[in-house]
Formats: sequence, C-alpha cells, structure tokens
Amino acid sequence: MKSSLASFNSHTYQAIHAVLLVFLFSFSLKHAAPAAFHGNETDKLALLGFKSQITEDPSRVFASWNESVHFCRWTGIKCGPREERVIGLNLKGLSLAGIISDHLGNLSLLNSLDLAENSFHEEIPPQLSRLTRLQYLNLSFNYLTGEFPVNLSHWVDLESLVLDHNTLVGQIPYQVGSLTKLVKLYLKNNNLTGIFPVNSLSGEFPPPFYNLSSLELIALSFNNFSGNLRSDLGHYFPNLPKLYLGSCQFIGSIPSSLANASKLLQLDFPENNLTGNIPKGFGNLRNLLWLNVHRNHLGYGKHDDLDYVNSLTNCSSLKMLHLGDNQFVGTLPHSIVNLSSQIQRLLIFRNRIGGSIPREISNLVNLNLLDMSNSNLTGRIPDSIGRLTNLGGLNLVSNLLTGVIPSSTGNLTELVYLYLPLNKLEGNIPSTLGICNQLLILAISDNHLTGTIPQQLIALSSLTKIYAFYNSLTGPLPVYIGN
Ligand SMILES: *[C@@H]1O[C@H](CO)[C@@H](O)[C@H](O)[C@H]1NC(C)=O
Ligand SMILES: *[C@@H]1O[C@H](CO)[C@@H](O)[C@H](O)[C@H]1NC(C)=O
Ligand SMILES: *[C@@H]1O[C@H](CO)[C@@H](O)[C@H](O)[C@H]1NC(C)=O
Ligand SMILES: *[C@@H]1O[C@H](CO)[C@@H](O)[C@H](O)[C@H]1NC(C)=O
Ligand SMILES: *[C@@H]1O[C@H](CO)[C@@H](O)[C@H](O)[C@H]1NC(C)=O
Ligand SMILES: *[C@@H]1O[C@H](CO)[C@@H](O)[C@H](O)[C@H]1NC(C)=O
Ligand SMILES: *[C@@H]1O[C@H](CO)[C@@H](O)[C@H](O)[C@H]1NC(C)=O
Ligand SMILES: *[C@@H]1O[C@H](CO)[C@@H](O)[C@H](O)[C@H]1NC(C)=O
Ligand SMILES: *[C@@H]1O[C@H](CO)[C@@H](O)[C@H](O)[C@H]1NC(C)=O
Ligand SMILES: *[C@@H]1O[C@H](CO)[C@@H](O)[C@H](O)[C@H]1NC(C)=O
Ligand SMILES: *[C@@H]1O[C@H](CO)[C@@H](O)[C@H](O)[C@H]1NC(C)=O
Ligand SMILES: *[C@@H]1O[C@H](CO)[C@@H](O)[C@H](O)[C@H]1NC(C)=O
Repeated sequence: MKSSLASFNSHTYQAIHAVLLVFLFSFSLKHAAPAAFHGNETDKLALLGFKSQITEDPSRVFASWNESVHFCRWTGIKCGPREERVIGLNLKGLSLAGIISDHLGNLSLLNSLDLAENSFHEEIPPQLSRLTRLQYLNLSFNYLTGEFPVNLSHWVDLESLVLDHNTLVGQIPYQVGSLTKLVKLYLKNNNLTGIFPVNSLSGEFPPPFYNLSSLELIALSFNNFSGNLRSDLGHYFPNLPKLYLGSCQFIGSIPSSLANASKLLQLDFPENNLTGNIPKGFGNLRNLLWLNVHRNHLGYGKHDDLDYVNSLTNCSSLKMLHLGDNQFVGTLPHSIVNLSSQIQRLLIFRNRIGGSIPREISNLVNLNLLDMSNSNLTGRIPDSIGRLTNLGGLNLVSNLLTGVIPSSTGNLTELVYLYLPLNKLEGNIPSTLGICNQLLILAISDNHLTGTIPQQLIALSSLTKIYAFYNSLTGPLPVYIGN
C-alpha cells in the first residue's frame, strides 16, 4: 500500500512513440534458426526472373548475365564456396531501374542483398520473407513505396536492415523486435509512422546520432544502453522538445549542457543509474513542463543537495517534478513553495529529506498529487494543506510528522487517497474527513491517534478501506464502512 503512489508515474513511459527520423542502434537478444533447400537450377531461374523486371541498365550489367558463363560468374553474383548456389547479390549504385522481382524470394541461400542507390520502384515483394538466411539487406536510396511487406520474424539471422531514403509508408513491423541479431537498422527518410516496437536496444549511442540536430523527439526508454550521456548532449539538440531516456542503463551525470536546449519541454530519465545532481542551469529551461529523475542515484548526501530547487522556481510552466527514489538529503528547501503554481505532481518520496512542510505549500494550488513519503520530514502537517483543493492523492507515509491531522483536510473534496501511516500523529481523526466524498482509501495506521472513528467517515459512501491499526483508538469497530 505504501508504494502504490510511488508506481503512479512509471506507467507513463510505456508508450514509446518514436518519430522514425532515424534509427541506428545496436542490440542483441537470442534466437535459433531454421533452414530451407532449393537447387542450383532454381537459383538460375530466379536470377533470370529478376533480370526480366529490369527496365533500365545504363551500364549494361545484365549483358554479362548470359548463357556463355555460369551464373556464379555473372556480375554482382557471389556463390557459396562448396556448391554453386547464390549467397550474395550486389548491384549497388548502377542506376538500374525496374521493380524488384518476386523471384528473388527463391534464392533460398541468399545471405546478402544490396540493391542500394538505384531506381527500383514500387513495392518490396513479400516473397522476400522466404530469404531465411539473409544477414544483410540494403535497399537504401531507391524509390520503393508501400508498406514494408516482409514478416521479419523469418529473417532470424538478419544483422543489417537498411531501408533509408525510400518512400515507404505505414508502420515499421512490430516483428523487428524479434530480429535478435540485428546490429544496424536504418529507416530514416521514409514516411514510416507508428510506435516503435519495444526492442532491447543496447550499446552506446553511435556517434552519428549526435548529428541529428533537427530531432524533435528522442524516445528510447526501456532499452539497454550503457555508458554516460555525453556532457555536451544539449549542444547537439538545440531544438529538442522531448527527451525520454527512462529505464535504460545510463550512468554518470545529467548533462548540464541540456540547460542550453531551451526548447525542452519534457525531460525524462527515470530508472537509470545517474549520479551527481540536477544541474542548477535547468532554471534556464523556462518552458519545461516535466522533469522526471525517479529512481536514480542522484544526490551527494549533503545538506545542499536540494539547492537546485531554487533555480527550478524559474521554470514557470513546470507541471511535474519527480525526484523520488534518489539519495537527496538535507532540509526541504522553503523555495519548494515557489515552484510554478502550475505544478500538478510533486514527488520527492524515498529520499532522506528533513525539515518541515512549509505553510506556504498552499501556493501550489494546482497540485493533484503530493508524495513526500518515506522521508525524514518533521513538524506538523500545516493547516494550509486544506487549500490544495485539487489534491487527489496525498502521501506522507513514514516520516517523523507530529501534531494532529488538520481538520482542514475536510476541504480536500477531490481527495481519493490519504496515506499518513508511520508517523507520530496524535489527537482525533477529524470528522471533517466525512466531507471528502471522493475518498477511497484512508490510511492512518502506526500513529498515536486517539478517540473513535467518526460516524461521518463511516457513513462516507466512497470509502472502501480504512487502515487504522496500531493507534490508540477506542470505541466500537464499524461493522461496515460506506456501501
Ligand atoms: C546444377 O548442379 C548439377 C549437379 O551438380 C549440375 O549437373 C548442373 O550443371 C548444375 N546446373 C547449374 C545451372 O549450375
Ligand atoms: C556474356 O557475358 C560475358 C561476360 O560474363 C561477356 O564477355 C559476353 O560478351 C557476354 N555475351 C553476350 C552475347 O553479351
Ligand atoms: C519462384 O517464385 C515464384 C513466385 O515468387 C514462383 O512463381 C515460381 O514458380 C518460383 N520458381 C521456381 C523455379 O521455384
Ligand atoms: C547501404 O547502402 C548505402 C548506399 O550505397 C551506403 O551508403 C550505406 O553505407 C549502406 N549501409 C550499410 C549499413 O551498409
Ligand atoms: C510471422 O512469422 C512467424 C514465424 O513464422 C509466425 O509465427 C507469425 O504468425 C507470422 N506473422 C504474420 C503476421 O504473418
Ligand atoms: C511523405 O510525406 C511527405 C510529407 O508529409 C509528403 O509530401 C509525401 O507525399 C509523402 N510521401 C509518400 C510516399 O507518402
Ligand atoms: C557530424 O557531421 C560532420 C559533417 O557534417 C562530420 O564532420 C562529423 O564527423 C559528424 N559527427 C559525428 C559525431 O558523426
Ligand atoms: C543488458 O545489458 C547488460 C549489460 O551489458 C547485459 O548483461 C544484459 O544481458 C542486457 N540485457 C538485454 C535484455 O539485452
Ligand atoms: C550555454 O551556452 C553558452 C553560450 O554558448 C555557454 O557559454 C555556456 O557555457 C553553455 N552552458 C552550458 C551549461 O553548457
Ligand atoms: C545500476 O544500479 C543497480 C543498483 O544500484 C546495480 O545493480 C546495477 O549493476 C547498476 N547498473 C549499471 C549499468 O551500473
Ligand atoms: C532522519 O531523522 C532522524 C531523527 O531526527 C535523524 O537521527 C537522522 O539522522 C535523519 N537522517 C538523515 C539522513 O538525515
Ligand atoms: C476550508 O473551507 C472553509 C469553507 O470553505 C473555509 O472557511 C476555510 O478557510 C478552509 N480552510 C482551509 C484551511 O483552507
């Protein structure tokens, strides 16, 4: 129960909408391979079938494809070492025009097909699915159209899939996620759309990645990258609004140069191994809506760990700040109350932040979720909490809070969850909570509360659960709660 709000945001990142301007990443998984068999005569027929669909051949390559020499010696053909079977077809850059014949699907031992830099047009034949030995496919710089028709699950050995600079449309087939040997995937300069499949990309970002200065979205969460984010990252993407790098394996610090990527709206680094701190320069990101560093190793364990909060008060549009599950200590800075009044979600749980909740927390009138649980907060819950009338969830579990539960909590008419266990709260449960007619769960166990559970609360029809054990409550236990 204590952590149920903690997981509130980690679902948000699972929709990985990638604008497929480019992808060039290496990744690895594991798989097994089937096989197929056809004879040498079939290969020859397939090549002749391919030739028959060529309409332009300015350098007269296909003149060599004649009966006077064995097909293994035709231009662009590579046969296997033991038998006369085609394993490679390379006709790159010959200004050929025509369509790619479906007969190529009969070259059952083909492992390399390179038709890049020609003028092949129309669709890629679905028969290419049958090339189960294929390791390298390069069809870049052609005029291929239509949706990519191949069931990629068949290409179990594929290492390079190069389709950039065509006019392919539709979605990249989700089976790309099953290409366990894939190292290179080039899809840029097409009209592909849709959701990029959840691969397990790994390795470091390849250098050319940093030349893509016009990217508008980098969404690579849930991959297996490694290494540092280079410190000058921000210089390469001056126009980037959205950077999603959650649940990868990044180490090192958050690049301070991102402070210069002034178009940034959303910065999302949860669930990595980042260390260091949030750069103070992030205060320059005036348009920032969303900053999420949940579950990293940020913070030095020093009293000034949270000094950057003061600079974040310049981010006047900030709607979401998630600092939970890091190593921040020190005192909750008073400047937290000067964060944007637009802020809707403020999560600082599972750090070791001390100090008390400032009375002026009520400045943050748009707060919908406030989670300061599992920290080291002391003092009272301020009465002013009752002014946060948009609060849907308030989680202060496991702190060192004293005093009473303010009766003003009754003003929180949008409240769905109220979690206060594992503190040192005393006094009565306020009967005003009976006004919170959205309240689903009230958790107040492990405190020093006294008195009875108010009738108004028991009558509350929305309420499904009260956790009240380990207090000094008296009086009869309710037989039923709400409905
Ligand atoms: C195919 O292989 C058979 C048996 O090895 C051989 O007799 C025939 O000449 C080959 N045909 C071609 C086109 O290579
Ligand atoms: C057949 O191809 C060979 C080279 O592979 C070439 O020397 C010969 O001129 C070609 N024959 C014709 C009729 O084009
Ligand atoms: C090769 O494949 C085509 C379809 O793509 C098929 O029509 C043809 O019969 C096949 N040829 C041989 C010799 O297997
Ligand atoms: C694919 O072909 C293009 C055009 O020839 C070439 O520039 C590129 O390096 C090739 N890609 C790969 C991954 O081999
Ligand atoms: C793609 O091929 C795999 C493996 O042969 C098969 O299980 C799957 O049903 C195919 N998917 C489609 C959409 O044809
Ligand atoms: C690709 O998208 C561009 C820009 O939206 C459009 O002009 C072009 O016609 C599209 N091409 C195809 C093949 O859909
Ligand atoms: C970026 O492009 C420039 C040329 O435009 C090139 O010199 C440089 O090596 C590229 N950098 C990377 C990291 O690919
Ligand atoms: C992710 O990377 C780690 C370290 O390189 C490796 O041990 C692990 O197997 C990778 N996981 C996947 C799913 O590729
Ligand atoms: C931001 O850009 C300015 C001007 O180019 C530069 O002086 C400054 O060092 C940069 N800041 C960071 C944090 O990279
Ligand atoms: C990330 O941190 C976790 C837990 O601290 C550790 O188990 C894991 O090995 C770290 N991964 C990397 C890539 O440093
Ligand atoms: C948390 O508070 C307790 C009690 O005041 C104190 O002993 C402890 O040192 C604090 N921990 C940190 C990390 O500040
Ligand atoms: C709670 O609401 C009442 C009535 O609207 C108002 O008088 C009171 O000031 C509010 N208390 C707080 C702490 O917001």
